[in-house]
Amino acid sequence: KFEGLALSPPMGWNSWNTFGCDIDEGLIKTIADKMVASGMRDAGYQYINIDDCWHGERDENGFIQADKTRFPSGIKALADYVHSKGLKLGIYSDAGNKTCGGRPGSNGHEYQDAIQYARWGIDYLKYDWCNTENLSAPGAYRTMRDALAAAGRPVVLSICEWGDNKPWLWGKEMGHLWRTTGDIINCWDCEVDHGSWSSWGILRILDMQDGLRQYAGPDHWNDPDMMEVGNGMSEHEDRAHFSIWAMLAAPLIAGNDLRSMSKSTQKILTHSEVIAVNQDALGVQAFKYKTQNDVEIWFKPLQDKQWAMMILNRGDKKAGVSFDWRNENVVDPDFPGNGQFYTAGFANSRYKIFDLWANKSAGTTKSSLRVSVEPHAVKLYRLEKIT
Ligand code: GLA
Repeated sequence: KFEGLALSPPMGWNSWNTFGCDIDEGLIKTIADKMVASGMRDAGYQYINIDDCWHGERDENGFIQADKTRFPSGIKALADYVHSKGLKLGIYSDAGNKTCGGRPGSNGHEYQDAIQYARWGIDYLKYDWCNTENLSAPGAYRTMRDALAAAGRPVVLSICEWGDNKPWLWGKEMGHLWRTTGDIINCWDCEVDHGSWSSWGILRILDMQDGLRQYAGPDHWNDPDMMEVGNGMSEHEDRAHFSIWAMLAAPLIAGNDLRSMSKSTQKILTHSEVIAVNQDALGVQAFKYKTQNDVEIWFKPLQDKQWAMMILNRGDKKAGVSFDWRNENVVDPDFPGNGQFYTAGFANSRYKIFDLWANKSAGTTKSSLRVSVEPHAVKLYRLEKIT
């Protein structure tokens, strides 16, 4: 694979969660404009990713073409436009004969597709797993990785087989991120049954990340799916959702309609301190330190001996939480830092506390933390070591 393209989790936007198959070049260009105007590009969002249904047919030589009605100017012109805004363009295909939306898949055309993407100036490929009955997942992703390498243009490869074949065990060799679950949906805690598959709310997706953090790191990320921030949940839920993705070092791929987003959604998506937790150079996911009834306390080691801490209230009632630092022994269960597991050492060291969503400092770890957390909400802190 092309090394070093995703040293921190990729940030961008993808068409699927809001638009499904209803996409065209006008929409993608406007989204690129909004990415700049909303401050998202400057906050770190880079990729404009076209999901399923951009395809037309293959030409007489087998090269894939865009849908001529929806993309009359062609993908190359669109890529030029997106690049001219200082952004990158992503596209979507499928390892099988057809995509999930029934468009032409890449099976048997991998090298041609990779050449076509390179000609067009594509920077990111999401590679799906529908209609792949006779394929092995590692093998199919290896083929596309090699095809992209042969085409020569650096492309981030996003593996999308929903965690079915344990991609955390082999995905690092093939691509830069891998989906760990089925599709997300914009609800706090629900499962929506579609017959042969389900989509999952925020807490369900979170719970499905259990045991996976040890497999992720710079250039190889667990992907709990594109975000639903701004797609209908409450402001508390959206903030919690964004915080959870930040703590999980998840790719931050927005999935809302940037043309009509509220001020509050924009503020959530561009919160630089929260994004910094996500993009931290250590690239270590948070771990769940403690559960008390509906409340979970998570810690994420950051560079320079800093920590991020999230108090998540999953429940429907306000929760009072107190955390007596000196009696807490926060040690990373999986990752050794400099030979020693990342350890916060609150008994011997003192930290300054920053409340990230409140944008203010919140004292130090000298005295216990006492907070109340709204239902379906989080408190998110950064801890900076002072002694
Ligand atoms: C699958 C993927 C989704 C989306 C659709 C497109 O369901 O998991 O993220 O790409 O296909 O058809």
